[in-house]
Amino acid sequence: MWKSRVLAPPRLFSAQPAHASIATRKSNAFRSARSLHRASLSPAAGTLATHLSRAAASAAALTPRTPFTHLPQTLPEVVADDLPIISVDQRKVAIGWDTRTWSRFHNIWLRDHCRCPKCFHTITKQRLYSTFDIPSDITPIRVESKIEGLLVTWPSTEPHVSLYPWSWLQWNSYDPPLHAKNPLEEKIIWGSGIQQSPPTVTYEEAMAGDDRGLFKWLSNTDRFGFSFISGVPATPEATEELSQRIGFIRETQYGRFWDFTSNLAKGDTAYTTLALGAHTDNTYFTDPCGLQLFHLLSHVGGTGGATLLVDGFYVASILKELHPETYKLLSEIPVPAHAAGEPSALYRPSPPSGYPVLGHDSVSGALRQVRWNNDDRSVMNHLEPDLVEKWYDAIRTWHRCLTSPDSEYWVQLQPGTAVVVDNHRILHGRSAFDGRRRMCGAYIGVDEYQSKLRVLSERFAPDAVLEATVHLPDTTVGGRSIWNTAL
Ligand SMILES: [Fe+2]
Ligand SMILES: [Zn+2]
Repeated sequence: MWKSRVLAPPRLFSAQPAHASIATRKSNAFRSARSLHRASLSPAAGTLATHLSRAAASAAALTPRTPFTHLPQTLPEVVADDLPIISVDQRKVAIGWDTRTWSRFHNIWLRDHCRCPKCFHTITKQRLYSTFDIPSDITPIRVESKIEGLLVTWPSTEPHVSLYPWSWLQWNSYDPPLHAKNPLEEKIIWGSGIQQSPPTVTYEEAMAGDDRGLFKWLSNTDRFGFSFISGVPATPEATEELSQRIGFIRETQYGRFWDFTSNLAKGDTAYTTLALGAHTDNTYFTDPCGLQLFHLLSHVGGTGGATLLVDGFYVASILKELHPETYKLLSEIPVPAHAAGEPSALYRPSPPSGYPVLGHDSVSGALRQVRWNNDDRSVMNHLEPDLVEKWYDAIRTWHRCLTSPDSEYWVQLQPGTAVVVDNHRILHGRSAFDGRRRMCGAYIGVDEYQSKLRVLSERFAPDAVLEATVHLPDTTVGGRSIWNTAL
């Protein structure tokens, strides 16, 4: 059953929206209820609850509690004669997107997220207003449904009006959540079948001044966890320049930009001719590097040294399906690690008990990070006695899945083809070799990589909120929108 996965690697996140545009499902009956309701939305504080109509209340009660986990590709377009219905009470504003879908926002949340120039600096994108000056029981004096968004007037000595674009409210809806928060998180997980068409960009594309090719390169890396770059001049200088297209090179105990042979110049197995099983780098760091770029510059007088890539998310998905108990153990038990081959350095992660092999997002529960290098593992002196054998069984199963022919993608790299891998997801290794092999490469921090990808996405793949708010006044100052969903 594990073989059948090779040709059709499952998708971890579907690129398809899970539901049709919610604007298309409005009923006529609801529209007329809504237009009646809209006329009465300027209540004074203290009487707001009475304005929650029966129609709205029953619609609110029908709101599905299951969060949508997929991002609609287009947000419902709000048009002047069909504005979202709103209802308010002492604590919250409720917005009806259609007869079934309502979002509720707490008054204090809305006031805290005002993005007027008095409350939010248009250039620095930092909060100016003190959250702690907001009365905990703040209630709007007026709430209006406008074409641009929700307009809220707050009680204060001088009138304070906040505008929240509809698309921004949909994106940030938390009661209930309406979408996945990051459209870039459409990962494509893969097994050995990836060899048929591995993601590749050309050096020319990656270096082109308009950055479009760089966006393609980083998007590939984000979706597949790796990308080849072909046609790179086989020199350390060109490879270093290529690495710096993404962001600052991260200097470590191995130096800044590496250019090395198998002479054990550094105290690590990477600097030998030995085979290396699939692993991630820097398990001994609190913050393992985000990307690793490497480039074989030459290999003379010998053979071997094939590169191994394994999608840790793919293997984890198999494990979760076939061995859920193993998956759970690997998600919970921290693994200590060390880098101790250099006399001048002795690295351990903080906390020293380390991190589990499989790390998850604490909010969504999604798999975020694979950390695995059995060679760098330190003493396991923190296991409950009755977990010792279970844990060894668990890593044996993990190892078996990692080394399955269905998981392993072997490729014999040639000078001129560099590869970048997401070190939080893809495990890499190599076969043993003889002769003289010269490699070069660099680490890039996860934050630098993600930052560059976001900046390029603003330009080349603006999300639905950026698209919907671009025409609002005073939105884009200093080249960045105040409604950017990363803020
Ligand atoms: Fe490595
Ligand atoms: Zn404000």
